[in-house]
Amino acid sequence: MSGLQGGTAVVTGAGSGLGAAMADAFAAEGMAVVALDINREAAESVAAGLEAGGAPAVGRAVDVADRETLDAAAAEVAARFGSCNVVAANVGVMQFGPLERITADDWQWLLSVNVVGTANTVNAFLPLLRAADGPRHIVLTSSMAALVPTPRQGAYITTKFAITGYGDVLRQELAEDGIGVTVVFPSGMMTTHLESSRAARPSALGESVTRDEDLEVVVATAGTGDDVVTTPDDAIADLVTDMLAGEPYVVTHGSRAAEIRARHRAIEDAHARMRDARDRRAAREAR
Ligand SMILES: NC(=O)c1ccc[n+]([C@@H]2O[C@H](COP(=O)([O-])OP(=O)(O)OC[C@H]3O[C@@H](n4cnc5c(N)ncnc54)[C@H](O)[C@@H]3O)[C@@H](O)[C@H]2O)c1
Repeated sequence: MSGLQGGTAVVTGAGSGLGAAMADAFAAEGMAVVALDINREAAESVAAGLEAGGAPAVGRAVDVADRETLDAAAAEVAARFGSCNVVAANVGVMQFGPLERITADDWQWLLSVNVVGTANTVNAFLPLLRAADGPRHIVLTSSMAALVPTPRQGAYITTKFAITGYGDVLRQELAEDGIGVTVVFPSGMMTTHLESSRAARPSALGESVTRDEDLEVVVATAGTGDDVVTTPDDAIADLVTDMLAGEPYVVTHGSRAAEIRARHRAIEDAHARMRDARDRRAAREAR
C-alpha cells in the first residue's frame, strides 16, 4: 500500500499526453483524480474514462494562466473531496524558433503559462495540500531540455529552467510542512504537444508559427538511443515510487548523462577557478 489510496490527486494538462498518463497512474493507486485542462472536452473525457474504470474523477476546464479558473476548481475540490494529496502542475506550452525570432508575445505566452501558470496551480491548491492527511506531494513538469539545452527551443527551455529553480526553492520552503516537491525531466514523448500548444495560445497573441527548419534542428539535437522518444505511460513508469520516496528529481528516459555531467563540471570548474584566483589574490595581498 502506497498510502495514496483514498486520497485525491489534481493534475493540470490532464486532457492528454503526460498529464493523462499521470491521471491514470494516480487512479491506479486508488486515488480520486481531478483532471484539469484548457480543453474542457479532453478533461471531461479523461475523467469519464477513469470513472468507467472505477476511480472517482472529475474533469474541469481551467486556464493555468488565469488564477481565478484554478481557484474555482480548488473550491470545487474542497467541497467534494475536502483536501488533496498530490498536485501535478504539468502544463507547459511550446514555441520553437531561434531566440532572436521569439517575439514579445511569444515570451508573454510561454512565461504566463509555463512559469506563472505553475505558480498559480501550486498556490491555488496549497491550502488543500496543507489540509490533507497522509502523503502530500507536488509534481512539477520540467524537461530534459532544461538539463541539456539545445538550439531552436530557447524560450521554452528558459521556462523549464525556471520550473527547476522554482521547484528547488519550493521544496525547501515546504519541507517544514512535510510536502515533497518532485521535478520531472522528460525527454521526447509521443504526444500532441505542438498541436495542443498552438490550440491553447490566446488569439490576441497571434498565431504560433512552427518552421520546418527549426523542427529539423530540434530533431537533430534530440540525442540518440532507442529511448529518445517514448510514450507518456512509459515515461512515468517510476514516478509514483520516486515521488513517494521524496526524490527531488525524476529523469524519465533518454541517455544524456555525459552532457549533464559536462555542464555540471563546467559550473564546478568555474567555481574552482574563482576560489583559486581569490586565494592567489589573498596570498599576494598578505605578502
Ligand atoms: N512531449 C514532449 O516531448 C515533452 C518533453 C518534455 C517535456 N514535456 C512537457 O510535458 C508536459 C505535458 O505535455 P505533453 O507532451 O503531454 O503535451 P499534450 O499536448 O499531450 O498535453 C498538454 C495539455 O496541456 C493543455 N494546456 C495547454 N495550455 C494550457 C493552459 N493554459 N491551461 C490548462 N491546460 C493547458 C493542453 O490542452 C493539453 O491537453 C508539458 O509541460 C511539456 O512541456 C513534453
